[in-house]
Amino acid sequence: MSLFASIEQAPADPILGITDAFKSDPSADKVNLGIGVYQDESGKLPLMDAVARAEAIIAETPKPRGYLPMDGIPEFTAATKELVFGPGNEAVASGRIVTLQSLAGTGALKIGADFLHRAFPAARILFSDPTWDNHSAIYAGAGFEIDYYPYYDRATGGVNFPGMLEGISAAAPGTVVLLHACCHNPSGCDLTPAQWAQVLDVVAEKQLVPFFDMAYQGFAVGPEEDPVGVRLAAERGLLFLVANSYSKTFGLYGERVGALSIGCTDATEAKRVLSRAKLSVRSNYSNPPTHGASIVSTVLSTPELRASWEAEVASYRDRIANMRHLLAEGLKANGVANTDFVTNQRGMFTFTGLSAEQMQTLRGEYHIYGVDNGRICVAAINTRNVEYVAQSLAKLLPR
Ligand code: LMR
Repeated sequence: MSLFASIEQAPADPILGITDAFKSDPSADKVNLGIGVYQDESGKLPLMDAVARAEAIIAETPKPRGYLPMDGIPEFTAATKELVFGPGNEAVASGRIVTLQSLAGTGALKIGADFLHRAFPAARILFSDPTWDNHSAIYAGAGFEIDYYPYYDRATGGVNFPGMLEGISAAAPGTVVLLHACCHNPSGCDLTPAQWAQVLDVVAEKQLVPFFDMAYQGFAVGPEEDPVGVRLAAERGLLFLVANSYSKTFGLYGERVGALSIGCTDATEAKRVLSRAKLSVRSNYSNPPTHGASIVSTVLSTPELRASWEAEVASYRDRIANMRHLLAEGLKANGVANTDFVTNQRGMFTFTGLSAEQMQTLRGEYHIYGVDNGRICVAAINTRNVEYVAQSLAKLLPR
């Protein structure tokens, strides 16, 4: 009898499993709106021009690939600090923010979670209700107990801000609060700058630790505008963590490139914090890979490539906004009563309000693949499939 005979089949991943199901569907009508991956008008994942040009520059002078330091390539972490916190940021200049290269956003969340749980084993974490499906696996895996604060309001299709403030205010000092920096996943509902200020007032008063997840910098308003909460936390001298990812923003999904930044009280404390965070890197994957981070630092530090990247992100944002508009029009034309949620929400996703059962109907009858929590990826809609998506969704949405 095999030792492994008792191991049961794991359930399919709520997001990645949708892509597997999509691939095995023979229907010619099928549309994958499950995973958060940007697609262009022809339904393909684009390679950014700035990325292709940076790769060409890197290939001109091939370098040996020794181990990187545990916290990654210094030019990459410096460029990341500038992108996340803005040029000439006082908190960065003071040395109280440390940044470690990571295996994309997920890796940054994991390194941060391990660091925090080892230092404060009794601390709990609060997530928005709802949140990205993988957050619970990452933080529970690091040893955290998880609670939720109210966030999405089904009645209004927006943020339940009083509920959010109340939920966060009730947390014990030292509680970690996971905040989506922009383009909330899955709801697409973000805080206004004034609401960010109020949330951070509560965070400071109750001595909580904000942990920002920023996977979509540039997809809401722009790379400078989107980190409003993160930059305010740094400006106020709060203790905080921020995981940023280059998967969506540079189209570097398969390179696994991102970073974890930790805001500390001063440069001396930051040095000690960095030494502990590096231990988390060492015990997870020892040190990060070279290629993706070299691309990002080349783009960000070459003015021409950086301008090209910014223009390309802006074009992604515009295309998504156009698809939101066309989808809302299509839903209206097919009798859906309220379509404001489609155009008000930001980022890659629209939260339809459909139940898990309805999302399964959408898959089974119409071959449109979204996530069971009601999320669809608008960034995968194009002018060829938008009408079909609108017609199909309209059969399930309230009239
Ligand atoms: C998503 O939410 O679809 C993406 O962040 C991809 C993933 O890993 O879940």
